[in-house]
Amino acid sequence: MIVIGGSSSENLANTVASRLGATSGKIEIKRFPDGEKYLRVLDDVKDHHVIVIQSMHHTPDELLFEYLLLVDALKDLGAKRVSSFIPYFAYARQDERFKPGEALSFRTVSKLIETVGTDDVFTIDMHQHRILRSSEVFRIPSHNLSAMPLLADYVMKEGILRNPLVIGPDAEAEQWAKLAAETLHSDYDVFEKKRYTADRVEVRPRKATAKGRDILIVDDIISTGGTIIEASKTLFTQGAARIEVACTHPILAANSLSRIREAGITNVIGTDTVPSPISFVSVAPIIADEVKKLRS
Ligand code: R5P
Repeated sequence: MIVIGGSSSENLANTVASRLGATSGKIEIKRFPDGEKYLRVLDDVKDHHVIVIQSMHHTPDELLFEYLLLVDALKDLGAKRVSSFIPYFAYARQDERFKPGEALSFRTVSKLIETVGTDDVFTIDMHQHRILRSSEVFRIPSHNLSAMPLLADYVMKEGILRNPLVIGPDAEAEQWAKLAAETLHSDYDVFEKKRYTADRVEVRPRKATAKGRDILIVDDIISTGGTIIEASKTLFTQGAARIEVACTHPILAANSLSRIREAGITNVIGTDTVPSPISFVSVAPIIADEVKKLRS
């Protein structure tokens, strides 16, 4: 077995390879003067099961294209099986035609991933709002894993929050709030969220009250931070004692982290699906455990 990381996930791939005692494969990437990308696989992959790890954050088009070049090359070079881990899966939010004429980007991306010969695909806390299972989009075996138990475990070991109430800032976040609450042996609730523009959202509490409680807000993505900031305003108005935030994918657009801190949030943690200053939790154990299951 060979583990190869694309340029967005090299460190993560090396960690996974060493956890598995597998070969860490290498690729060479450069650009031609006209901007085209060049990719070369430096290992002999013939008859090997190759694990590809490539997150699609910040420059998703470029990273997706690199992924397509890589997997197509691997299959052409005789790899027996290519299992892909795309920890941050871009384009999952455009899963529906909201306005006439819009591209269904999620479907296009999944078709491309299949076309190059990916045998199975794994994502982590992929945005699934209207589409509830990745199998509704992919025709190859697909699995959506979750980093929430690991994030909650980290929060528990930090030991700062006393008997926290876990809050999901919108209905979709219920799945993550539930998982985190299970690890923390605590209760949870979700808010109702209305998004007006990309950076303006409004949230309303459903039933739980935060009065006097330590709160853990959990979400899949922090992008502009708008969702977290609105949720925390509501929670502080209700009398929350302290708020921490855990997210799987810290995209952290522009000055979102400083705005979140200014909103009075004590701690923000994320994972290395998107390397960032708050990526304190690695998803390497999740990937390595899944690969072990593929081996057996
Ligand atoms: C949306 O439904 C997602 O689950 C996140 O809540 C959202 O992507 C966060 O974005 P932002 O930080 O820009 O509010």
